[in-house]
Amino acid sequence: MTTEPTGISRKNLLKAAAAAAIPSALLAGTVPALANTEPLTPTPFCDDGDDPTPPQMEGPYFKPNSPRRTSMLDGAGTRLTVSGYVFGLACQPIANALLDFWQADNAGAYDNSGYRFRGHQFTNAQGAFSLTTIVPGLYPGRTRHIHVKVQAPGRPILTTQLYFPNEPRNATDSLFNPVLLMTVRTVPSGREGTFDFVLNVAGTSSPSPTTTPTSTPTQPGGTWQAGQYYAVGAQVTYGGLRYQCQIAHTAQPGWEPPNTPALWRRL
Ligand SMILES: [Fe+2]
Repeated sequence: MTTEPTGISRKNLLKAAAAAAIPSALLAGTVPALANTEPLTPTPFCDDGDDPTPPQMEGPYFKPNSPRRTSMLDGAGTRLTVSGYVFGLACQPIANALLDFWQADNAGAYDNSGYRFRGHQFTNAQGAFSLTTIVPGLYPGRTRHIHVKVQAPGRPILTTQLYFPNEPRNATDSLFNPVLLMTVRTVPSGREGTFDFVLNVAGTSSPSPTTTPTSTPTQPGGTWQAGQYYAVGAQVTYGGLRYQCQIAHTAQPGWEPPNTPALWRRL
């Protein structure tokens, strides 16, 4: 990651436009227009020359089919918001990117029977996301962290983890990577964390061309099959009903179309 000492690069201009929801058509030669926008909170990633956000192991506690929600508040703990942007390699904001978070509760326990502290959401048109949760508790062997999967439409899933600064265990957790540190500040309501993801997506954030998989109806449920990759627009049948894929993904058991309205729209 390189630091830009002065000036406004095209990438930072894109970031500023994303933060201020300025249409990209206004970008060319619009530095004066940006002068009236709110100052940006410095973000640690997506400067010129940045690499994609590194992956980390999924660990044993991921569960598919998390509920779609931006607040996972449930139970005791210090309130925490995590917000930021999802960018491509050119710092272009990526809209409709899927973020699926899961974390330990205040006592350091994962909910493996239900969906406490599990939730997914999609970035808005500016590529922004915001999660309301609690500071995850510690559990043996690990420093404090939040798991997340991030996927641009039509792209592979990035599985990684976010970390907290000034945690004593950061120094002893072999998985800890300082590149994945959030910027965290204390506020009256608790903590505010920010992190910008950079996905290995070149150029624009347009989804890849749609294709319809040539599935064969070997399952009683229909043509939908776990393990099959579905592009945006792909159509399947399940339970005698037809569905169209909304977010490119590789199907997993538990992600059947009736269970995942964020992924599948009934036709
Ligand atoms: Fe974990």
